[in-house]
Parts: sequence; structure tokens; C-alpha cells
Amino acid sequence: MAEKSFKYVILGGGVAAGYAAREFVNQGVKFGELAIISKEAVAPYERPALSKAYLFPESPARLPGFHTCVGSGGERLLPEWYAEKGISLILGTEIVKADIGSKTLISAAGEIFKYHILVIATGSTVIRLTDFGVQGADSKNIFYLREVDDADKLVEAIKAKKNGKAVIVGGGYIGLELSAVMKINNLDVSMVYPEPWCMPRLFTAGIAAFYEGYYANKGIQIIKGTVAVGFNADADGEVKEVKLKDGRVLEADIVVVGVGGRPLTVLFKGQVEEEKGGIKTDSFFRTSVPDVYAVGDVATFPMKIYNEMRRVEHVDHSRKSAEHAVKAIFASEAGKSVDDYDYLPYFYSRSFNLSWQFYGDNVGDTVLFGDNNPASENPKFGSYWIKDGKVVGAFLESGTPEENKAIAKVARVQPQAESLEQLAKEGLTFACKI
Ligand code: FDA
Ligand code: NAD
Repeated sequence: MAEKSFKYVILGGGVAAGYAAREFVNQGVKFGELAIISKEAVAPYERPALSKAYLFPESPARLPGFHTCVGSGGERLLPEWYAEKGISLILGTEIVKADIGSKTLISAAGEIFKYHILVIATGSTVIRLTDFGVQGADSKNIFYLREVDDADKLVEAIKAKKNGKAVIVGGGYIGLELSAVMKINNLDVSMVYPEPWCMPRLFTAGIAAFYEGYYANKGIQIIKGTVAVGFNADADGEVKEVKLKDGRVLEADIVVVGVGGRPLTVLFKGQVEEEKGGIKTDSFFRTSVPDVYAVGDVATFPMKIYNEMRRVEHVDHSRKSAEHAVKAIFASEAGKSVDDYDYLPYFYSRSFNLSWQFYGDNVGDTVLFGDNNPASENPKFGSYWIKDGKVVGAFLESGTPEENKAIAKVARVQPQAESLEQLAKEGLTFACKI
């Protein structure tokens, strides 16, 4: 089969790829030099839309409406943009073998791609209940959500099972966002997760209590402290029941599973150094192998602010890491250098009329402030994390843009906190005066 050769190849066509492409153009990439190879059939898009507006019953978001780089307020890069810039979008093409020694990628159809510089941007894949051998987990109408194809299948099922019952397995990001959007679609929703409160990776018990109360008030049934151990299906193979470890059985027409993701590093196993489950990079996103970079969900990079190697599975970092890597590539070609990547963690989520942002590190003591009564008309509350007397993390629900900027600044500046009591009393005022 014919071989194609490019100066630069981005492997993966997700968020990081889109933002990298824009930066390649900013840096003056020449016509024909860059290719993006993606398993997906569409140009890079803002993945967060899939668990939110894509699933709305009224005026849902659809491509080409949310191609990158609209998510951060930039120009939307339509497929025509790539063509105009001479960037080859090689879509619907899964790479099944990577040989870093010979700088070669091979697709499932046997096409061969050569590169001089490779940017690995393969993102994450979902963890499946079938991976743990959960009985009946391959029944029809059990869904996972990662790519636009997955979202399309879910949209079809929502239409087919009007006013039916949905069970959401997992209490993390997917669990919380999908429970909300399924409820908005008028399904009867139950959520199941093993922990004592939702989103335990980030939320304190106090933060979680608000969302659990709010969801319960919307009519979502929350079942904590247990897991799905099996599924019963009807004669057509469609899921009908979810069996829980505590013996309960839930009726279900649709099941959505969000039990975590796993970075897609498998093509490079044994070829690049790994750390903490991701591909190890330096602060320019260079891997252990020359001419190979890794960005987005797959990269384990030096988080300068905490002097620690970390991996981040959120959209803001995927955008910024991609831009930083491309700047570093061009600087290095010009015999120059760029500053170290100095990232302040930023995560957010939206569901119903709620919207929260978090900046910094969720370690140390915590204080909760504001009105976190889920029954309030306009709840607004937050939390600070305090380590060694300094405020290192801040969370805010329903903040204004200025207030969100203020909590971001707190997390970056890490001001001293007089006492936890004082912080709790001052609440948002503390952030706004920094
Ligand atoms: P991303 O997953 O975007 O892209 C990887 C691409 O590589 C995909 O196109 C994939 O098909 C392709 N690929 C993988 N292996 C390949 C192979 N072998 N050959 C060819 N192509 C291959 N974050 C946040 O901060 N706020 C939010 O609200 C959300 N919401 C959200 C919703 C949903 C449904 C998901 C799944 C995720 C989020 N996220 C989020 C997380 C965020 O979307 C995620 O961190 C970024 O998309 C990561 O960007 P990457 O480019 O690294 O991977
Ligand atoms: P997650 O890690 O946020 O949450 C997984 C949840 O599933 C946890 O609560 C976990 O304890 C629970 N769980 C684990 N095993 C279980 C089991 N057997 N039964 C029931 N629950 C179980 O992962 P996710 O929600 O699946 O999200 C996947 C990826 O998508 C992550 O990378 C996430 O960052 C990303 N994402 C991010 C956002 C956002 O930032 N707003 C939104 C959606 C998705």
C-alpha cells in the first residue's frame, strides 16, 4: 500500500489536535507539512458538548456548530479551514501499530504513515463494565460516552424509549452530567455509585451534599454505596434490569455507564517512558524519545506549581498543552526555547442551571462558604482548600465571570489564610480582595 509522509503528524483528532492545528498555523506551518490522523469520522470538536447541549431535547448542539476552537471563544475550524491551510485531515482512520524506531504508523486498513515529528494526542477511552466481566454488561441499550458516535446512539435510544427509565452507573463527571440531561429528556432517572458521596475525586462531603440534594429535588433517585453487578435483558437482548450488589434490582430501558477513563497509551507501550499511567513528558511535552511529543489526556507532565508529575483529564489542559507543545516544536527548530509549561489546574462542569468551576489543588483542610441549600432560589457557595496555612484550591458554584477569575487568582497566588473560621466567614470576599 502507498506510503504517505508528513513533516508533522498529530495522532488523534480530538480537542488537543484541533488546538494544536491552530497553533501550527500561527507558527507558520507550510502547506502539506501537517496531518491529523483520527479514528473519528469528523474534524476535531469540543468534546465537552457531548454530555451537555448535544443531548438536549430542544435545539441540541450538532456539528459543525462545535468544532474546535469555539469552546475557548476562538474561531471555529471547519473541515474547509484545514483544506485551506494545507493540513491533511485523515479521518476514519485508526492507527493500530506505531513503530517509533522507524517513525512509522500503520492503520487498520494497512496504510503506512511516516513522520518527522509526532504529536501523540490519543486522549482516553472509557472503562467498560465488560472489562470486569459484569454479567449481562453487553446487553443492548447500555451506553458509554466518549465520541460523537456514542452520543448519536444515545440520542436514538432516548427517542426510542420516551419517558422510560434510565439508570446511570457512576457518580463522577459523566454520572452527574448524564443524570441531569436524561432527566431533562423526561426519563425517570436513578444514579448508582459506590462511594458515600458523588464526585469524591474532587468534591468534599459538603459540596456533594448540595448536588445530591439538588438532583433529588429534580426527582433523580440517588443510590449510594453499591455497584451494578449484573444486567437482565429481554428476548431481544435489550437491557431491562440492573442488579445491584446490595440485592436491589432497578428497572431500566437505558443504562449509561461512566466509571472512569483510561489514557490511550497502548500503541506506545515499551517504546516511550510512562509515569502515573500516562506518557511521561518534560515541561515542553517532549517524551523520552526525540521528535515524539504527547499532549492532552495522555501526558504525564511536570506540574510546576506543585513540583510534581501529574496527568490531567480535562479540556482546558488539553487545549493549553497542545498549544505549548507546538510552540516548543517551532522554537526548538529555530534554536530557541519557550518557558516551562506552568499550568494551574482548572476543571468545570455544568448541569441543569448549575455551573461550577474549580482551580488549584484539592488537598489539605477545607472550608465551605455561602448558601449551599439545594432548595434556595439562587444558591451560590464554594469551598477553599488550605494546606500549610495557604489557600491552594478554590471551588465556586454559580460564580460570575469576575468571581471565577478571583478564585483562579487565589489558587495561583496561594495567599495565607488567617484561620479556617475567618475564611469561612469571609467566603467569596476573601477571594475578591486578593
Ligand atoms: P480526545 O479524547 O479529545 O481526543 C482523542 C482523539 O484521538 C479521538 O478523536 C480518538 O478517536 C483519537 N484516537 C485515539 N486513538 C487513536 C488511534 N489509535 N488512531 C486514530 N485516532 C485515535 N473536560 C472539562 O474540563 N470539562 C467538561 O465539561 C468536559 N466534558 C466532557 C464530556 C465528555 C462526554 C467527555 C468524554 C470528556 C469531557 N471532558 C471535559 C474531558 C475532555 O473532553 C478531555 O480531557 C479532552 O477531550 C482531552 O483531549 P485529547 O485531545 O487529549 O483527547
Ligand atoms: P470519573 O472518574 O469522573 O468517575 C467515575 C465514577 O464511577 C466514580 O464516582 C467511581 O467511583 C465510579 N465507579 C467506579 N466503578 C464503579 C462501578 N463498578 N459501579 C458504579 N460506579 C463506579 O469518570 P467518568 O465520569 O466516567 O468520566 C470519564 C472521563 O471523562 C474522565 O476523564 C473525565 O475527566 C472526563 N469528563 C470530564 C467532564 C468534566 O470535566 N466536566 C465531563 C465528562 C467527562
